[in-house]
Amino acid sequence: MTQRADAPQAAVDFNNEDSNTSANPTFEAVLSARLSRRGMLRGSVGTVGATVLGSLGMTACGGSDDEPAKLGFGAVAKSLADVVSVPAGYTASVLYALGDPILAGASAYKNDGTDTDFDKRGGDHHDGMEWFGLSADGKRSDNATDRGLLAINHEATTDERLSSFFIHANGGTSTLPRPASEVDKEVALHGIAVIEVARMAGKWAYSTNSALNFRLTPLSAMEISGPARGSADLVTKYSPTGTMTRGTLNNCGTGKTPWGTFLTGEENWFGYFTRDAADDAARGNDKSVASLKRYGRTQGAASRHGWETGGSADQYQRWNNSKTGSSANGSDDYRNEMNGMGYIVEIDAYDKSRMAKKRTGLGRFAHESAAFGQVTAGQPLTVYMGDDSRGEYIYKFVSTALWNAADANAADRLAVGDKYLDSGKLYVAKFNSDGTGQWVELTVANSAIANYSAFRFTNAAEIAVHTRLAADAVGATKMDRPEWNAVNPVNGEIYFTLTNNSNRRLEPSGSSQMGLDAANPRAYTDMKGTARQDGNSHGHVVRMKDGTSSFTWDVYLFGAEAGADKALVNLSSLTDDQDFSSPDGLAFSKSTGICWIQTDDGAYTDVTNCMMLAAVPGQVGDGGKKTLAYTKADGSKVDVSTYVGKTPTPETLKRFLVGPKGCEITGLAETPDGKTIFVNIQHPGEGTAMANVTDPTKYQSQWPSNAGYGAGKRPRSATIVITKNDGGVIGS
Ligand code: FEO
Ligand code: CA
Ligand code: CA
Repeated sequence: MTQRADAPQAAVDFNNEDSNTSANPTFEAVLSARLSRRGMLRGSVGTVGATVLGSLGMTACGGSDDEPAKLGFGAVAKSLADVVSVPAGYTASVLYALGDPILAGASAYKNDGTDTDFDKRGGDHHDGMEWFGLSADGKRSDNATDRGLLAINHEATTDERLSSFFIHANGGTSTLPRPASEVDKEVALHGIAVIEVARMAGKWAYSTNSALNFRLTPLSAMEISGPARGSADLVTKYSPTGTMTRGTLNNCGTGKTPWGTFLTGEENWFGYFTRDAADDAARGNDKSVASLKRYGRTQGAASRHGWETGGSADQYQRWNNSKTGSSANGSDDYRNEMNGMGYIVEIDAYDKSRMAKKRTGLGRFAHESAAFGQVTAGQPLTVYMGDDSRGEYIYKFVSTALWNAADANAADRLAVGDKYLDSGKLYVAKFNSDGTGQWVELTVANSAIANYSAFRFTNAAEIAVHTRLAADAVGATKMDRPEWNAVNPVNGEIYFTLTNNSNRRLEPSGSSQMGLDAANPRAYTDMKGTARQDGNSHGHVVRMKDGTSSFTWDVYLFGAEAGADKALVNLSSLTDDQDFSSPDGLAFSKSTGICWIQTDDGAYTDVTNCMMLAAVPGQVGDGGKKTLAYTKADGSKVDVSTYVGKTPTPETLKRFLVGPKGCEITGLAETPDGKTIFVNIQHPGEGTAMANVTDPTKYQSQWPSNAGYGAGKRPRSATIVITKNDGGVIGS
C-alpha cells in the first residue's frame, strides 16, 4: 500500500523503511561503461462500467520476434471518477468485500463500525490472489472454469493514528493503550481468506458458508520449515523449540506452485512490532541488534497499531519484540518474535485442516510475489522474489530436488512443498552496466558472508533469517523497490516491477539516498500539482533472461507521464492511452500471454486513479541501449546508459481498467479459459480523514456502495470479477 500523504504519522512510514545503508556499489563508477458449486451462493451485484465493442482477437501469445499478438479492446482513459472503469464490451462486478460473511456464525455486514467476528469475515486490503479450480464434487480440478477457490491476501487496513478507523463506530482509539476489543478486530482482518466462487446462470458469486472456506489470521498456528526450523533465532515463549509461530502478516504478493498450493509473501511486517527504548543494551548489543536495525526496527520504535497495549495476555505482549525476560535463549519473552515473520508461506488452499508452513529457505525480507520459472522434468525448480523497500534486492531460490512431474498431482501437497522448497540455494542479483548480471549464492562458504563485519554468519539458518545482511555482504544491486515479479510463460523471462524510489538521485547525499546505475537509471523532478517530487517517482519494469549463474536484462517499460521529457523521463514514449506511474502488481495470463501491470501510485494521482494495463511484451534485447545525458548541479555532464525495451505500440500496451478514488489495483487471478479474471481493489477512500469517519459526505470514496454493493457508505476493499459481454477471452 501507499503511505497516506496526509497521515499525521507521516514521519513514520510503516510501508517503507530505509534500513539499507550498506555501502553496496550502485555503479556510479561504471555509469558510462523483455512477457460447479455448493452452499448458499450470494448473488453478485454492483455492476460497474460496460458498453459494447467488437474484438480483433488475440493471436496466440506474445513473446515472439515476429508478428506480436494484438490487444483487441479500446483503451480506458485516465480518470479521477469514483468508479471502476473497464473497456467497452466488458463488465466488472463486485464479488467479495471487507466484512462479507464467509463462515457460519457471521451476520450480514452492517458496515457501520459495529461489526465484529472478523475471523469469520472477509479481511481488509485485498491484495495478491490465486485461483484453485474445483470439480463438481469439490475436489481439485486444474481445468475447471466455472467453480473454484480464490485464495486472497488481506494485507493491511486503512489506518490513521494507530486506529483502523473505518471498522470502529466512531473511528476507534488513537492513543495508547488500545482497547483489546479494537485490537482483536484489527488483528483478525489481517491474513488470508480462501473462499469458494462459482458462476451460476452467467453470474459469478462467492459462497457465504462453503465447507471449503477458511481464514488464517495473525493468530493462526503455523509451522517453521526449512533451514531456520529450530534455530536459536526463532526461540520464543510460544515456541521454545523454535519450530512454530503464530500467524502471517501484511501478505502482499502471491504465487502458485506446480503442485497446486498457494504461496503468500509477508511484506511490511516489521511495523507491527515495538521495541523498548533501551533494548539494545538489554540484548548486550549482540548480533540480534544489527539484524533488527537492518529490518527497520531500531530500539524505541513504535508499532503501527499499538497492539502490544491490548492487555497482559500473551497474544498482545508478543508484539513487543524486546528482551523482557531473563532467559539466555529467549524462551520466556518475545525478543525473537519478529524473526517469525518475513517469509514465503505455503498454504494448501484445498485443505483447511493442514497447517501452513513458513518456507524459510526462500529467505526473510519484505516479500512480494513468488514466481516459478519454467518447469522442466529432471531440472531444479526456480522461484523468483523481490524485497520491497527502497534500495532492496532481487532474489531467486533454486531447489536441490529435481522436478518429478508426478509430484504435480500428489495427494499430500505440502509434503511436495517440503521436497522442493525446504532445501536449495538462495541467490541475490547483481546488475552490471553492460546489460548482464550475476546471481550470487548466499552461503557461509562465501567468506564475504562468513566474515561480514556487520554480521558474522555461521550457518544456513542465519542466512535464512537475516537474509538482507548476507546480500549486503556480497554487494547486491540496490533496486528501486522490487515489487511483484512474474514469468512470461512463452519464454521464461522474468519481469519485476520496480515501483518507485524517492531516494534515487543523480547526486546522492546521506546514507539513505543512492546514486544512479544502469538498471535504475532515472532521477528526475515531477510535479504533483504544486508539490515537487524527486527521485524515480514513476518506477519501471525490469526484465531478465536467466542463464543459471548469470542473466541478461533490459528495462521493458519506464513509468512516466505521457507529456514528460522523452530523453530523460518518458524513455518508453508512453502515450495518453499507456502512461502509468508506480507499477506494483504483475501477472502473466497463462491462457493469453497478456502481461497485466497494476499500479499502486501516489505520484500521478492528481491526474488519474490507479489502474491496470494490458501488455504484450517482446523479449530482453528487443530494444536498444539508451544514454541519458544528465547535468549535475555544478554544470558538469554525466551520461548514464541503460537498455530499454522496444517502444510499445497502441496494440501492445494499453490501459484496461481504472479504479475508484484512493485505491490501488492489485492481485489478478484467471480461469484457465482466460474468460474470467478476478482483480482486487485495495483501500478505496484511503485519503479520508479519521475525523470524518461518521460523515459519508466527506469520504474520499464511497465505493463499492456507490456501485450498488452492500450496506453503509464506508469504502471497502473488494474483489471484482471481469468478463467480456460476448463471452470471449479477456483482452481479445
Ligand atoms: Fe504490498 Fe510492496 O506492496
Ligand atoms: Ca506529475
Ligand atoms: Ca503491492
